Amino acid sequence: SAIRARTLEIATAHDGLEAPLLPTLHGVQNALGHIPEEALLTLAEHFNLSRAEVHGVMSFYHDFKTKPGGRKVLKICRAEACQAMGADAVAAAAKDKLGVDWHETTPNGAVTLEPVYCLGLCACAPAAMLDDKVHGRVNEQLDTLLAEAQS
Ligand code: FES
Repeated sequence: SAIRARTLEIATAHDGLEAPLLPTLHGVQNALGHIPEEALLTLAEHFNLSRAEVHGVMSFYHDFKTKPGGRKVLKICRAEACQAMGADAVAAAAKDKLGVDWHETTPNGAVTLEPVYCLGLCACAPAAMLDDKVHGRVNEQLDTLLAEAQS
């Protein structure tokens, strides 16, 4: 299949490295937007690892998606300064209104919700980031942000 062929192409390009799995996983995610099961199995076979070993590396780094992500990504800060300013309530409201949990994408494919650990905007906590734009005091404008995320 196309997924298998593309995955093998990326894996082969990293064959000379001492630790090829991680850069290969990043390459596959950049190329395909996520790491589908078929790519995972292809990598396990290519690098002579078990499925569990490849999956273990993917889960350890949290960067890898096993399902296609949304057109936009909303990251809500979960670190200390934001926690102190009500980030938990913001996260709960966002989950509730979007109908998703962390790392999930809304059924219409609009937005993926991700936790993040400090956006450098602690002075304006609680903070969030929609795609590559940071927003402060999101507790005061969550509905606007959610509407923008889903637009
Ligand atoms: Fe949230 Fe720093 S702790 S931006």
